[in-house]
Amino acid sequence: MAVERTLSIIKPDAVAKNAIGDIISRFEKAGLKVVGARMMHLSREQAEGFYDVHKERPFFNDLVEFMISGPALVQVLEGEDAIAKNRDIMGATNPKEAAPGTIRADFAVSIDENAVHGSDAPETAEREIAFFFGDDGVCPRTR
Ligand code: TYD
Repeated sequence: MAVERTLSIIKPDAVAKNAIGDIISRFEKAGLKVVGARMMHLSREQAEGFYDVHKERPFFNDLVEFMISGPALVQVLEGEDAIAKNRDIMGATNPKEAAPGTIRADFAVSIDENAVHGSDAPETAEREIAFFFGDDGVCPRTR
């Protein structure tokens, strides 16, 4: 299996609950390493640009309002099969459908305030990491 990098966001609801440490510890216990991290209060432009793929969806405006409602921790995680592994640890988009023990089952209250984001494919991971970090702020690859 390949070593991958993926973009993770601990969203404003989870930051407000002081759940950053608990969530990062789940990533680390699963073998994922934090290779970039930036505490950010997203601007409207950043939130709209990041979720551009959803701009025609009915939930888009509420999603943007939520993402700019408070600070978020934007991170790059690295590890074997990191993209799928992170999605497993996160659980389903809707916390009502998330498996027990996943981050969303434990911290999310609703589908629209669901604690974490994780890239869903190698192409999106590349785009999303570049969106927030560019060439700056991420540890160089060592493997
Ligand atoms: P999506 O990319 O489908 O899910 P995921 O975050 O699991 O990759 O959707 C992006 C975000 O949009 C999702 O985390 C929360 C929000 N959203 C809603 O608010 N309502 C919805 O019905 C859906 C599908 C998503």
